[in-house]
Amino acid sequence: MKILTVIGTRPQFIKASPVSHALIGAGVEEVIVNTGQHYDVNMSELFFKELEIPEAKYNLEVGSGTHGEQTGEMLKKLEPVIEKENPGYVLVYGDTNSTLAGALAASKLHILIGHVEAGLRSFNRKMPEEINRVLTDHVSSLLFCPSDVSKENLKKEGITAGVHVVGDVMYDIFRKFEHQFPDDNLYGEYCLLTMHRAENTTKDVLQKRIRQISEVALKVVYPIHPRTKKCLKEYSITIPENLVLIDPVGWLELMGLVKHTQFVLTDSGGLQKEALWHGKHCFTLRNETEWIETVEQKSNSIVREEDSLDVTTIYNGDFTNPFGNGNASEEIVDIIKNNFRDDLFVS
Ligand code: UD1
Repeated sequence: MKILTVIGTRPQFIKASPVSHALIGAGVEEVIVNTGQHYDVNMSELFFKELEIPEAKYNLEVGSGTHGEQTGEMLKKLEPVIEKENPGYVLVYGDTNSTLAGALAASKLHILIGHVEAGLRSFNRKMPEEINRVLTDHVSSLLFCPSDVSKENLKKEGITAGVHVVGDVMYDIFRKFEHQFPDDNLYGEYCLLTMHRAENTTKDVLQKRIRQISEVALKVVYPIHPRTKKCLKEYSITIPENLVLIDPVGWLELMGLVKHTQFVLTDSGGLQKEALWHGKHCFTLRNETEWIETVEQKSNSIVREEDSLDVTTIYNGDFTNPFGNGNASEEIVDIIKNNFRDDLFVS
């Protein structure tokens, strides 16, 4: 019984870690393939180390490029690896180009696919992530949903077979490492910002977002993603005085920053939930969110690009967690085992 896992970006390293450990615990063989979509040491290697992810057997070293180049290169390199390893399932995570490439390559080779974080929808087809999610869900046999909302989204698209609400694997890892989040506050009174999405890094929108951030009457600490760093320079956008740029940090350090922040500003999916688990208010710098449960909990407010960023009303506190019990990974592995037959390959 062999599982082949395809990962390649920061959030996927985080999500795959607890599942890898659950697979080891259940005695299931896992072959990890790192597409190399993220390749800077502090965007990849650091995560393998600190999250105790087993070493990848393959690194495809695909790196950056246009969507077509990047996804195409991944497909080309994944195909022979999947063929050679001939796993029972290919496991993919989330909604990046690595997710789509893993799912497409496996489906063409008639290998069953398990999609972790299935059924999320922003209903904005201009987001590359939305295309990746929809396509991946439609070729997957096992769909692991973090909540009932994602299960309902799948139902509306006619997907009901193989759908399991297991909770969020990010909550598993949050619980596992909670006691290791750094205690020291390096920045005094501040708010934490992360921002890198394609829709926020066009010249026009990035200018608007930076203007919003400059209106916050507080120090804004920003571990900056290389994409946004490049865009700020390319568009000659002036960095406002309250913005403190730092290099990208590992996940534990980021959780330390969330622990001490007044509130969170982000366009990341994961951080919207991590803020909730930390009891911190999150302002999501997007026009919509897939994680509507966080908005219903009042822990999250959407800030559209045309809005002014009003941080006067902040809800910090003990929120109810709508994303499972912290045992999603074990449930995923149980479900895979129960649906695993060596003769299950589609002919
Ligand atoms: C990708 C995902 C996004 C996810 C994010 C997590 C897609 C379509 N998007 O976006 O959903 O939220 O990862 O971080 O898959 N770069 C570096 N070093 C690196 C990686 C990237 O310098 O290690 C720079 C390059 O200039 C590159 C740019 O960042 O062109 C964008 O990287 P890419 O992997 O294409 O997408 P992300 O913005 O990271």
